[in-house]
Amino acid sequence: MSSFVPSITLNDSTPIPQLGLGLWKIDPADCETVIRTAIDAGYRHFDCAAIYKNEEAVGAALRAAIAAGDVDRDEIFVVSKVWNNQQGFEETGEAFNQSLTRLGLDYLDMYMVHWPCADKGTYQSTFEAIAQLQGLGRVQTVGVCNFYEETLDSIIADTGITPAINQIELHPGLSQQQLVDYHHHHGIVTECWSPLGQGEILGHPVLGEIAEEHGVTPAQVALRWSLQHDRIVIPRSRTPERIRENIDVFSFELTEEELDRITAMDQADGAGRVGLDPREFS
Ligand SMILES: NC(=O)c1ccc[n+]([C@@H]2O[C@H](COP(=O)([O-])OP(=O)(O)OC[C@H]3O[C@@H](n4cnc5c(N)ncnc54)[C@H](OP(=O)(O)O)[C@@H]3O)[C@@H](O)[C@H]2O)c1
Repeated sequence: MSSFVPSITLNDSTPIPQLGLGLWKIDPADCETVIRTAIDAGYRHFDCAAIYKNEEAVGAALRAAIAAGDVDRDEIFVVSKVWNNQQGFEETGEAFNQSLTRLGLDYLDMYMVHWPCADKGTYQSTFEAIAQLQGLGRVQTVGVCNFYEETLDSIIADTGITPAINQIELHPGLSQQQLVDYHHHHGIVTECWSPLGQGEILGHPVLGEIAEEHGVTPAQVALRWSLQHDRIVIPRSRTPERIRENIDVFSFELTEEELDRITAMDQADGAGRVGLDPREFS
């Protein structure tokens, strides 16, 4: 069963569903219900990471869905990320194998550097290892998370490879326009983590007014804003109704004026950040 979620074609020609399911903080005990609900609702993209400590349960749920005939392996896009304490060329290869084993899969669709942690000085060799995994056919596409201009410049210069995706905190409270412009210039697709601002932005009156206008929810408006800017979104929910609500965002369209009003929610100097600042986190 294919899904109605549109795909974006990355700089290495890999297609990726524009909306996926975030899996941070999803308790292993809830993974079966969450993932089966998501697959039924049309999700085909699953954003995991070693540090989420749920790869076994995520993999078991995905494999159960495949065994049940709900979905084929080649219809789903499975992502994991190397955690900071396994950075380095050799270590990343080992981390990748461990994630693959925990997930019980033969390959990953995308493997990512989770944070640059620039002061460690190992994000370049970490990225190089992921690029080698792509060359070996063990991963379809290569991505990074939380990279900023200097760290992107550095990996592109070192390896000659431009990551297909940079996954960054991005929602109406934190637009990151300068970094997004850099992505456009280099052909990197922007993927939004915390696209709902971890729920903190959903009470904003602008989202409420626009939601009422369209007969949808503030969460759906926030997701639509990112989608209409051609970004990837990976909202997380453990609540079945919200899992369905968050993918039900392809039957309405925001006007240019509405998009601009939402963009104006951006808070100066990164004050709208709900997560860690990549320039400081190590
Ligand atoms: N690369 C990175 O460094 C990084 C960092 C952070 C996140 N991520 C990825 O991005 C994903 C999403 O970000 P996130 O988990 O930080 O936050 P998020 O998706 O912005 O927000 C999740 C929160 O919003 C609530 N929620 C979900 N749908 C809702 C709806 N329709 N209405 C009202 N509330 C709703 C959820 O509650 P319930 O679960 O109770 O429904 C949960 O508390 C993560 O799961 C992870 O995969 C990556």
